[in-house]
Amino acid sequence: MLEQGLKDGAKVFGLATGSTPETLYQELNKSNVDFTNSISVNLDEYVGLGKEDKQSYSYFMNDRLFDTKPFKENYLPDGKASDLDKECEKYNEIIAKNPIDIQILGIGQNGHIGFNEPGTNFDVETQVVDLTESTINANKKYFDNIEEVPSQALSMGIGSIMKSKKIVLIAYGLEKSDAIKNMIEGSVTKDVPASVLQKHNDVTVIIDKDAASKLSIFMVLPFQQI
Ligand code: PGA
Repeated sequence: MLEQGLKDGAKVFGLATGSTPETLYQELNKSNVDFTNSISVNLDEYVGLGKEDKQSYSYFMNDRLFDTKPFKENYLPDGKASDLDKECEKYNEIIAKNPIDIQILGIGQNGHIGFNEPGTNFDVETQVVDLTESTINANKKYFDNIEEVPSQALSMGIGSIMKSKKIVLIAYGLEKSDAIKNMIEGSVTKDVPASVLQKHNDVTVIIDKDAASKLSIFMVLPFQQI
């Protein structure tokens, strides 16, 4: 799907971190895909972590993809910015200058997209967010102990995500099954941020059987077709 996007002229890729896109990045690293004329714009970064911190999303992206597949430009919010509000404005300008052609998304167990937690307004742009207990618990596996998980992050807003031309949401595992059911079959509500995607006209959802298990109807695509 990303290779086809490139062939079709996609230039700007909205990228995600976390365990979900790891296999996608492994496949891309093994492929001939060439991103040297492409731009990446990531969804989020922890407040207080910089590219030298192993748990930062900047470090993650370099390690999992950019070191092997260089892009023309890589953008992530700067979690160490001294003025976080200014950093959010700067990031909004970057997104405005580089409209996202294809946005890759994971989904949180609570239905978050990016770090837009339940209750977030659908029209917000990049903002500083307080992470919920569920998100902190889900992400503690990357840290030595839960106290080290940052309590805040900078996240691209739902308004910006919705402006992406095409969105690909990926989810694996039973722990995502409620979020997937609510996203697809529930009503559009701020309580399930991903439910806003029902209002976007070009969304592909790629899920395994476990993540799909609570849906009334589902289809699973082989991963190689991404
Ligand atoms: P995960 O996170 O890929 O680590 O499950 C997804 C998300 O929180 O968006």
